[in-house]
Amino acid sequence: MTQGPLTTEAGAPVADNQNSETAGIGGPVLLQDQHLLEKLAHFNRERIPERVVHARGAGAYGTFTVTGDVTPYTRAAFLSEIGKETEVFLRFSTVAGNLGAADAVRDPRGFALKFYTEEGNYDLVGNNTPVFFIRDAIKFPDFIHTQKRDPYTGSQEADNVWDFWSLSPESTHQVTWLFGDRGIPASYRHMDGFGSHTFQWNNEAGEVFWVKYHFKTDQGIRNLTQAEANKLAGEDPDSHQRDLRQAIERGEYPTWTVGVQIMPAADAATYRFNPFDLTKVWPHADYPVIEFGRLELNRNPENIFAEVEQSIFSPAHFVPGIGPSPDKMLQGRLFGYGDAHRYRVGINADHLPVNRPHATEARTHSRDGYLYDGRHKGAKNYEPNSFGGPHQTDRPLWQPVAVTGLTGDHPTPVHAEDNDFVQAGNLYRLMSEDEKGRLIDNLAGSLSQVSRDDIVDRAVNNFRQADGDFGKRLEAAVQALRG
Ligand code: HEM
Repeated sequence: MTQGPLTTEAGAPVADNQNSETAGIGGPVLLQDQHLLEKLAHFNRERIPERVVHARGAGAYGTFTVTGDVTPYTRAAFLSEIGKETEVFLRFSTVAGNLGAADAVRDPRGFALKFYTEEGNYDLVGNNTPVFFIRDAIKFPDFIHTQKRDPYTGSQEADNVWDFWSLSPESTHQVTWLFGDRGIPASYRHMDGFGSHTFQWNNEAGEVFWVKYHFKTDQGIRNLTQAEANKLAGEDPDSHQRDLRQAIERGEYPTWTVGVQIMPAADAATYRFNPFDLTKVWPHADYPVIEFGRLELNRNPENIFAEVEQSIFSPAHFVPGIGPSPDKMLQGRLFGYGDAHRYRVGINADHLPVNRPHATEARTHSRDGYLYDGRHKGAKNYEPNSFGGPHQTDRPLWQPVAVTGLTGDHPTPVHAEDNDFVQAGNLYRLMSEDEKGRLIDNLAGSLSQVSRDDIVDRAVNNFRQADGDFGKRLEAAVQALRG
């Protein structure tokens, strides 16, 4: 069935889409060929800046359903009733690779989830790992520079990666995780997700709880070995993206069981680990994971550029009953994402269909800017006004947090059992003998590419401090490879 004539952007019919207009037969091309000029100019502007991290990803829509009562802990409306459903959009990603990079690589996976709630969009911008490499946002650009392309060689360099990690001993826990079996998920469906940071929940009475989110895959965990991943990355660079799309097309909707660890506010000051340190987990024996939801992905985007590339997620997008914690990483992220969106997609990025609220409407006095669509029509654009405009509620989304002392460049406070190695050691000792062997092989394979002995020694020493056996075996494995 024909859709009618091809047109220019202005809607005029195009007579010839094969031959540009020339001055005579075989002559030079004419400037008056508006269709040619427009086509070439639009083509030149097809790309927007890729995400500075997490550039490579895939997304899908779905449904979040409440399965457990969390109303004693949060007044968030979308969590108010068992059985309540909220539409979601989830974008998975790798971290270091560029837009066209292969999916099957050793790298954390992003797990960015947008809940389209009736009180506005709530974004949980997490990873498939419960912890992270660093604990202060001020180190993030340096860290990412070591993961991305070297300014001179133009490639990712083992020297840079291991120089930074070895000089940042707080990374030992996450690096142990990354080089273990879960470091290369077989697909986006076969991995867990985590909010990673600690967030605030507050209930109707104004009581505060500190929480950590967990998304447990119902497909089961499946991973690739380094050798399997190397092969797959070459044969099918889009493996994760394709797997997700095709599973949804087949009606095999991936699901996750959603849980939360809940810490009463009064526990935080004396908990054995600083609960706002992103390099640490809360052992489940201290705070069990309480199930409260089910996440299902059931609809593919129709247009990858419009819905995945232009999607924006911000850790600063909270709804009433949910807020930030004093985690210094999270605090930095509250700024970083909105700023990235304004640069990458533009000041009206939140007007796009994938980004705007779906279960309510945004009512702001912000106006204009590039690609403003006039949605507010003639409404007044200031407040207070006497024309029935939107007004403030006087009720903050989250509860205040007590602070003490002087301003300053204070390091993250250390609690009774905190050090940079304790949880890395615990993770190592939890592994089976086989898992330990693969971890050592993976680490040695990467470390042995480092050109300088002092960097290798410093890195091995961090793992030795986590566990003596860990360090000893790694040192021997690296030596064997380096000769
Ligand atoms: C202070 C540390 C961090 C900073 C400054 C930072 C900054 C950024 C920026 C600028 C982007 C690109 C956003 C865009 O262009 O739309 C991004 C993407 C992302 N970040 Fe972070 N990040 C930090 C730490 C983390 C941590 C700890 C996690 C997970 C626990 C995380 C998860 C993600 C995810 C999942 C995305 C992709 C979002 C999407 O799919 O659009 N980041 N980050």
